[in-house]
Amino acid sequence: MSVRVEAAGAVMTIAFDRPDKKNAITAAMYATMADALEQASGAAAVRCVVIHGSPQAFTAGNDLQDFLSNPPRGDDSPVFRFLRGIATFAKPLVAAVNGPAVGVGTTMLLHCDLVYAGESARFSTPFAQLALCPEAASSLLLPAAAGYHRAAEMLLLGEPIGPLEAREMGFVNAVLPDEKTIPHALARAAALARLPASSLRATKRLMKQGQQEAVARQMAAEGAEFTAMLRSPEAREAFTAFMEKRKPDFARFG
Ligand code: COA
Repeated sequence: MSVRVEAAGAVMTIAFDRPDKKNAITAAMYATMADALEQASGAAAVRCVVIHGSPQAFTAGNDLQDFLSNPPRGDDSPVFRFLRGIATFAKPLVAAVNGPAVGVGTTMLLHCDLVYAGESARFSTPFAQLALCPEAASSLLLPAAAGYHRAAEMLLLGEPIGPLEAREMGFVNAVLPDEKTIPHALARAAALARLPASSLRATKRLMKQGQQEAVARQMAAEGAEFTAMLRSPEAREAFTAFMEKRKPDFARFG
C-alpha cells in the first residue's frame, strides 16, 4: 500500500507512503487517491481532506518507470481521474509539504485551498527537462497565481524553488519548521471541519466557478499533448537517463 487513506472523524487524510522511492506516484496510487476523493465527496461525515507526504518528502511526482511501462491511455486513466478529482473537489482540500514536491507534487497544490510548507520543501516542475509539458492546468493556474514571468521561469526551466519563494508566488500559505507542517495542516483542517459545511462549499464554489470551465479545457488540452509527448523518443531518453542515473542527451533530436 503506497498511499494511506484514513478518515478519522470529519477529516480524511491521504498520505503518500512510499518513502524508498520518494513517494513517486504509480497508476495504482493515482487510482487509490481518485477513489478516496470520490468517497470523500459522497460521505457527509467527511468535511475536509488533507494530503501529505512523509516527513522527508511530499512526492517525486509521476513514477517515471511506471509511466514508461504503463503510460496513461485516455481520459479514464487513473492520473487524469485524480487530476479531475482534485480540480472539482467541492470540500476544502489542505496540503502539507516537506522535502521534494516534483511535477504533479507541485501542480496538485494549485487545486488545494490551503497549502503549508516545511522549511525543507522544494517545489519543481521539470516538465521540459523530461521532454513533457505542464499538466493539471498548471499552464493556466501558475501564471494566474504568480504572474507570467515567474511561472514561465518555473515551467520552462524546471529548477526547484524553496518554500519562501513558493509563498511569494502565491501557492503556499505559510512556511513552518518541518516537524510542524503536518500537525498544522491537520489543525487547520479540524478548524475547517467545525465550520458549517454548506458555507465552506458555497465559498469555495464561488471562488472557483469563474475559472472552472477554463481549467477543465486547459487540463484536457494539456492531457492530449502530455500523453502524445510521453511516447516521444525525447521523453524515452529523459526517463531512461533518470533510471540509469545519467544526464539525458537531447542533441540528436531536432
Ligand atoms: N520515478 C521513479 N523513481 C523515482 C522517482 C520517480 N519520479 N523519483 C525518485 N525515484 C527513485 C530513485 O530512482 C531512487 O531509487 P533507487 O534507490 O532504487 O535508486 C529513489 O527513488 C530515491 O531517489 P533519489 O534520486 O536517490 O533521491 P534524492 O533525494 O537524491 O532526490 C528527487 C530526490 C525527488 C529530487 C529525485 O529523485 C528526482 O529528481 N526524481 C525525479 C523527479 C521527476 O522527474 N518526477 C517526474 C515529474 S513529471
